[in-house]
Amino acid sequence: MPAMQPESRGDNEPGRLTEAEPCRMAEGGSGRLIAIASGKGGVGKTWFAITLAHALSRTGARVLLFDGDLGLANVDVQLGLTPELDLSSVLSGRATMAEAILRHPQGGFDILAGRSGSGALSAMGDALLERLLHLLREQSQCYDHVILDLGAGVERPLRRMVAAADILLAVATEEPTSLTDAYALLKLTWADTPAGDTRVVVNQAGTRSAGERTYATLRRACGTFLHQEPPLAGVVRRDEKVRDAIRRQSLLLVRHPSCPAGSDVEAIAASLVAGLERGRRS
Ligand SMILES: Nc1ncnc2c1ncn2[C@@H]1O[C@H](COP(=O)(O)OP(=O)(O)O)[C@@H](O)[C@H]1O
Ligand SMILES: [Mg+2]
Repeated sequence: MPAMQPESRGDNEPGRLTEAEPCRMAEGGSGRLIAIASGKGGVGKTWFAITLAHALSRTGARVLLFDGDLGLANVDVQLGLTPELDLSSVLSGRATMAEAILRHPQGGFDILAGRSGSGALSAMGDALLERLLHLLREQSQCYDHVILDLGAGVERPLRRMVAAADILLAVATEEPTSLTDAYALLKLTWADTPAGDTRVVVNQAGTRSAGERTYATLRRACGTFLHQEPPLAGVVRRDEKVRDAIRRQSLLLVRHPSCPAGSDVEAIAASLVAGLERGRRS
C-alpha cells in the first residue's frame, strides 16, 4: 500500500525513523509486556498504544511499541512513517528483530512496525507465533516496557499474545457493543490465564464520571458472571485533539501538550510506572 501522507503535518516532522540505540540489556530492563486489546475494533487501541508509549518514554523509561495487529497493522500509518523493515522482514529471516526496530526520534521510543493487509501474518501458524513471542520476550530485556498494540477480535493468536503479556489493558468505550466485546475478551483471556493482571481503560468517555460509570457496568458484569473484577487503569476522555493529531499523523503530546486526553494517558502511564517501582522494591 502506498504511504498515506496527511494534508499537512504542521509542526511535526517525524517522517523518518532513525536507528534504535544499541540494546542496553546489561542495564537490565524489567521487560514488562503490556498488551492493548479490546475485542471490538475502532475503540482507539492504536492511538492509545502510541500515546502510552510516548508518555512512558517521557518518564525516562525505555519503551518499545510493537505493532501486533497481525491483520491490519497501522501504527506506522497513524504516525506517518514508512519503515523499510518491519515484522514481516523479521519473520521471513531478512532482518533480525534488533535490526527491524527503529527509533521514533521525536517520541524517544522504539517501534517494530507491522505489515498491513499482507494477510500472511494473520494466517501465521502456531510455530511461527511462538517464535515471534520468544524473540519479543528476548528483546524485551532491552526495555522497561514493551507495548503490544493488538488487533480486534478474540481469535486464538490474539489470545496467545495476551497470555504471553504481563499486563492486559482492555480498552472499552461506552458503546454497548464495545462493552460486550470487552467482556468477551476478558472472559476468554481469563479462561486462558486465570490470574493474569488485567486492567480496564475506558476511552472516548464524555466525562470522567461517565467513563467511571461505563467501567462500573463492565466490572459488575465481570463480578456477577466471571467472579473476578478487573481494576480500572484509567478513563481517557473524548477529545477532538485526538482526531486532529491522527489526521496530521503526529504525536498528541507534541501537537497538543496537556489536552484532556493527553493528560489522561499520562496519568495512566504514571500509575503503570508507580506499579513497576513498587514491584521493584518488593
Ligand atoms: N480519546 C479519543 N477522543 C476522540 N477520538 C478518539 C479517541 N480515541 C480514539 N479516537 C478515534 O477513534 C479512531 C480509531 O482509533 P484507532 O486507534 O485506530 O482504533 P483501534 O486501533 O482500536 O481500531 C481514531 O481515528 C480517532 O478518531
Ligand atoms: Mg488498531
